[in-house]
Amino acid sequence: MFQDTSQALRIAIFASSVLIAISPAHAGASYLGVAPQGNAAKGADNIAVCSSCHGAHGNSLKPEFPNLAGQNYNYLLKQMENFRSGARQNNTMSAMIQTVPKAPGDANLQDIARYFSSQPLDRKANANATAAKAPLTLANEGYRIYQQGIPAQRVPSCSACHMPSGLGNAPMAIPALAGQHATYIEAQLKLFATGKRDNSPGHVMEMIARRLRPGQRHAVAVYSEALDPSLINGIGPRDYAEYIKALASQKVPGVPTAALATEAATDSKKTGAGN
Ligand code: HEC
Ligand code: HEC
Repeated sequence: MFQDTSQALRIAIFASSVLIAISPAHAGASYLGVAPQGNAAKGADNIAVCSSCHGAHGNSLKPEFPNLAGQNYNYLLKQMENFRSGARQNNTMSAMIQTVPKAPGDANLQDIARYFSSQPLDRKANANATAAKAPLTLANEGYRIYQQGIPAQRVPSCSACHMPSGLGNAPMAIPALAGQHATYIEAQLKLFATGKRDNSPGHVMEMIARRLRPGQRHAVAVYSEALDPSLINGIGPRDYAEYIKALASQKVPGVPTAALATEAATDSKKTGAGN
């Protein structure tokens, strides 16, 4: 399973160089490289309207609405600024962001970002609880795409930027994907691929999403939703050999067995979905 490691590493290095290349243009941005600002308690005062879609404390009950709980502060702030400026467009959200009063230096958006980023992502309380279990073959395909990339299609591993744990890279405003709803992730990949969402720095996500086939976008979305950071982070990197052994003993590395469906039951129906 790990024979592709050196290849994965080369792609990871490629992805890091893309990331470095895209950084300078955004170096002055309010969200990049900053420690979380804002006041979570004040943020909680401005979000009454948000919970109808994003759920109480940002744990959304509908898979088409993203979880905001536990999402990285810098990423949340960037997205809200992007909805406000029109750099990211969505009929609902472009209107919703106008319900937040403008304040100097986007202080209100900072407060909201601080609030949601400090809420725990609760998989049992959000739409993950009712999500279908991931078919093994599909989850494994998603695992390979996420952690190793697809060299033949010049797709870097997602883990190079979104991290093996799926927790993203907070200072770089790269979102967590672990535990995010697969329906939402797949929809965003489609929006990136078609250019309807084009706010990623250096257009890196647009480029990557275009290189993925629809079925691959589906597989990687299913894996991301099922990915549990504690299975990746809880083991290493103290003892690398132990880490590799523990991962190899999991049916799909990073995915709790309870989140997997038995092979025969669902695979044949599900693998074609999203094409
Ligand atoms: C009527 C439903 C609805 C309400 C109410 C709503 N949102 Fe959203 N929100 C959405 C949808 C749908 C998306 C995904 C938009 C897209 O596809 O680009 C979204 C996306 C977001 C994102 C981006 C998340 C990500 O992972 O990229 C943020 C941040 C956000 N909303 C914040 C808010 C805040 C703050 C409020 C309250 C002021 C709010 N939303 C109210 C439906 C809603
Ligand atoms: C070179 C770094 C890089 C790589 C590699 C990368 N991403 Fe991203 N990704 C980003 C950045 C940066 C953003 C934030 C875009 C923005 O600012 O709107 C992002 C955003 C996303 C989003 C939007 C999440 C949300 O909450 O709306 C999804 C979904 C996503 N990436 C999936 C993937 C998948 C799947 C892969 C692997 C096939 C991947 N990414 C590989 C950098 C990367």
